[in-house]
Amino acid sequence: MTDWLAHWKEGDIFWHENQPNPMLVKFVDCLKLSAGDCVFVPLCGKSIDMLYFLEKGVKVLGVELSELAAEQFFVESKLAFTVKKSNKFTIFSAKNIDIYCGDYFDLETQALSQVSAVYDRGSLIALPADLRVQYAQHLDTIIPSGCQMLLLTVNYPQAQMDGPPFAVNQAEVVQLLKHFECQQLHCFNDVKNDSLFKDANLDFLEKAAYCLHKTNG
Ligand SMILES: C[S@@+](CC[C@H](N)C(=O)[O-])C[C@H]1O[C@@H](n2cnc3c(N)ncnc32)[C@H](O)[C@@H]1O
Repeated sequence: MTDWLAHWKEGDIFWHENQPNPMLVKFVDCLKLSAGDCVFVPLCGKSIDMLYFLEKGVKVLGVELSELAAEQFFVESKLAFTVKKSNKFTIFSAKNIDIYCGDYFDLETQALSQVSAVYDRGSLIALPADLRVQYAQHLDTIIPSGCQMLLLTVNYPQAQMDGPPFAVNQAEVVQLLKHFECQQLHCFNDVKNDSLFKDANLDFLEKAAYCLHKTNG
């Protein structure tokens, strides 16, 4: 089991990117967002992608286990922030953004009532198989019908390397998010270029993007 808080404490955040994710930039239209809309970013870390949304006038609601991550996000983004306690969460807020610090599985529907989109980069694939099932079921429970979702995954021979990030293929995405319409937008083999995976000598490393739509009912 990954000790995420220890990763944050030790500054070992190998997954963090210093630029907006290129797949987000390429496929953001899948989320059908306009200024004033709200995107949910589960397991958000201190992702720069949240700033990308803010710069488009889109509100952000993130959830993250580590308070260090939330604090670093606001300090490094030079955003003045407030902190308040609410039930099981400590909420870090600035204009147009709230990061709920606590356990994703404690989030309830009412917190997400304004959300019209979900952006998942490094979240589903951060979790082992049993937790991925729970993650998807919980997402289905807490987000409103009609939500659009952009999901970024990696897939590789799991026997050749341990996660995280864990390998998730298209069949698993469809199975996990069975109440969503699912379209694969992109899938390419990046095994030659990705430095994070280079020591594992993987046979292949597929990076994929999916556009999902939570259907009514
Ligand atoms: C691989 S990182 C990805 C972070 C972010 N999505 C990004 O792209 O940079 C996974 C993050 O999920 C957080 N996390 C793991 N389990 C969680 C949980 N149950 N509730 C909230 N956050 C969690 C970890 O602390 C970590 O910051």
